[in-house]
Amino acid sequence: MPVLKNISTLYTCIDDGGQAEIHPIKNGVIVWIGETIEWVGRESELPEKYQSEKSFDAGGKMVIPGLVDCHTHLCFGGWRADEFEMRIQGRSYLDIAKAGGGILSTVKATREASEDELYEKAAGLLKEIQKQGVTAIECKSGYGLSLEDELKQLRVYKRLSEETVVHMVSTFLGAHTIPPEFKENRKGYIDLVINKMIPAVAQENLAEFCDIFVEESAFTIDEARTIFEAGKKHGLTPKLHADQLSSGGGAELAAEVGAASADHLEQISDEGIKQMAEKHVVGVTLPLASLYTQQPYLNCRNLVDSGVEVAVATDFNPGSAPTFDLPLAMMLTCNHGRLTPAEVLKGATIYASKAINRGEQFGSIETGKSADFLVIDADNVNEWMYHYKGSRMEFGFLKGKQIN
Ligand code: NIG
Ligand code: FE
Repeated sequence: MPVLKNISTLYTCIDDGGQAEIHPIKNGVIVWIGETIEWVGRESELPEKYQSEKSFDAGGKMVIPGLVDCHTHLCFGGWRADEFEMRIQGRSYLDIAKAGGGILSTVKATREASEDELYEKAAGLLKEIQKQGVTAIECKSGYGLSLEDELKQLRVYKRLSEETVVHMVSTFLGAHTIPPEFKENRKGYIDLVINKMIPAVAQENLAEFCDIFVEESAFTIDEARTIFEAGKKHGLTPKLHADQLSSGGGAELAAEVGAASADHLEQISDEGIKQMAEKHVVGVTLPLASLYTQQPYLNCRNLVDSGVEVAVATDFNPGSAPTFDLPLAMMLTCNHGRLTPAEVLKGATIYASKAINRGEQFGSIETGKSADFLVIDADNVNEWMYHYKGSRMEFGFLKGKQIN
């Protein structure tokens, strides 16, 4: 029964008290058994029975829950550095997509790659992601856009989840965009998603969520509604890429279909905010996509003040967010999303796990949760975000085992 002691401040981030309440404990202690947290509290109140247990020393540093990246596109073929240059030279993300680049260029590269090649690449990336203290990750398909290629991506995630200690959650994103062979036949592609892909994904138990890119350039509200219904029949919970480039009623649809989260939201309407708050849909901000596509940042302050819980994620993908630096996304959410460091910490821990329906399992430091926590070399949460230099993780624990 290991014990972590000598913690300056333990930010437990339990799901209570709103976005800003991270429940700090001065001179905290964590006791765990195997993979699970057994006791959390002040060092002065540590029960006698735990006192002689093997202890780890946090060196007087702060401790936070393991970070949760609740929105990534981890598995893909190729990269798109050429588009990065084009955007800097003035071409827009949408413009590049319309000319056959963007998502479709990654679809081509992903189709050309074998499952093993994709696996090796994703596994390498995941190792690097872990080093920052990310202990849970959500991963989407959406670069296959054919039955076999979507399954190929999702099988990569299944294999990874069997090999890695990181908590993994998979999402089917067959409705990411219309593939070239269905350019003149949208309905044909949507039928394929509904009648072939969703049943096959469910049959192989390859995903838990069904995500859709709801956008003028991708799928309409009505198309999305139909796909979500089919997904729900097969046990897939809705999630959305919504209101990213235009305000198209995506947030309202998220509330209507009972989505776990609506992500992006830069162009969300006031009505959308109201409905998400009422239906407890988590809003996921993805500031790295704004950074890389020169688009406005989501004003998260507005959402939080209206009662929406906001999570922060990377959106890691080869186009709009080619970095997996979650702490950077957090810092940008402070500066551009107008959330305090404490609010952002809650957004990258317990609220991020709620966005992937894992709030009961991890994302906070409390009895019964997975023993996932990080020792951070910073004085307090404000100083941590202010003097940005990555996660500043000294070491941590994931499912009770030491990492780094
Ligand atoms: O979340 N918005 C749609 N999908 C991704 C972008 C994917 C890509 O550019 O390859 C996103 O930003
Ligand atoms: Fe995304």
